[in-house]
Amino acid sequence: MADWDLLLTDARVATLAASAPEYGEIGDGAIAIADGSIAWVGPQKDRPAGKSRKTRSLGGRWITPALIDCHTHLVFAGDRSQEFEQRLNGVSYEEIAKTGGGILSTVRATRAASAKELFDTALPRVRALAAEGVATLEIKSGYGLDVKNELKMLEVARRLGESTDLTIRSTLLAAHTVPPEFDGKADDYIDLIGDELLPEVSKRGLADAVDAYCESIAFSAPQIAKLFRQAIDFDLPVKLHADQLSDGGGAELAAYFNALSADHLEYTSAAGVEAMAAAGAVAVLLPGAFLTLGETRRPPIEALRANGVPIAVASDCNPGTSPICSLRNAMMLASRLFGLTPLECLAGTTREAARALGLSHDRGTLEVGKRADVAIWDISHPRELAYWIGTPQLAELIIGGHTTGP
Ligand code: NIG
Ligand code: FE
Repeated sequence: MADWDLLLTDARVATLAASAPEYGEIGDGAIAIADGSIAWVGPQKDRPAGKSRKTRSLGGRWITPALIDCHTHLVFAGDRSQEFEQRLNGVSYEEIAKTGGGILSTVRATRAASAKELFDTALPRVRALAAEGVATLEIKSGYGLDVKNELKMLEVARRLGESTDLTIRSTLLAAHTVPPEFDGKADDYIDLIGDELLPEVSKRGLADAVDAYCESIAFSAPQIAKLFRQAIDFDLPVKLHADQLSDGGGAELAAYFNALSADHLEYTSAAGVEAMAAAGAVAVLLPGAFLTLGETRRPPIEALRANGVPIAVASDCNPGTSPICSLRNAMMLASRLFGLTPLECLAGTTREAARALGLSHDRGTLEVGKRADVAIWDISHPRELAYWIGTPQLAELIIGGHTTGP
């Protein structure tokens, strides 16, 4: 009887283990996989005796944990290229939102689309992320903004997970903005989410977390607090779009509710960073939105580092603020625009991204007991992963111990 299903030898391993320095590099490494999990990883010379059903030499290639995109809105219909042109001509995101465009323009298109249309247009986006090494990703609702259409989006996200090898975590973002039917009645809409949508989502197991947008063009901290209390009653962890365009105390709010993460954070104050550190919330940085909106104020990177806040990086793939369906590009942008080191970018799309999804017990590093989600690369050093733009370097993606298709 074999001890392992797959043994990868002659690999340069970047484990990204938190206990190891830097990338957790093992120069002449091997990794043994059994039942979809990592059974052993370490220097070749220390490998215990054991039989493997299959053994493959990687010829000195680098392997890392498969990448994790922990913040996307990749189920949507239509596009907002016209708004992009408006913004190039000086009209702001807030102005566009206040005149019925922005998120609401994608809501109109998404409501009009069938579940099949949404699935068919989202699938290539999922495949594009997988083609660059992503094995786990998050998808938010938030372009339905009524019971029927939010459920439709979450069902599509679940079906994408069932139809591909990837793990897809879905997040209820019904509190993304106030829908037209509730114009001037945001509190009533929050009640609808809490009283009708959340119970149904929970009953049907359609979401893994609840998110909200805390901003003057979306919801106030007290409105979100009410929703978060209800989410926690349903045993759903929370996360927050926080302090993207102004300091609305979003980081503090997220910390108060022990959020998995607070995302964006361009305007987060020192007190907000300290609150996140105390709560152990992950800072998810979204440089694609920063770039696309032409923002100039960067998230408080130095304060996040100084306070030991874990930093993740995500694509934020969406048609309005981040038409970027590439986590590799987000890594490069996080480096160039925010000054993250290439190591922070890789840790931010593996170990810390897993934490932002509440999955760090199970993935995000190459350590014994974790899921065998492994990316094999044609690179000479992992810093290259935050360096090239649009350059295919993935040699192979192994998900749950199995090689995935092209
Ligand atoms: O993460 N900030 C709010 N939510 C999205 C944008 C969604 C949209 O504009 O369609 C974001 O940037
Ligand atoms: Fe977002």
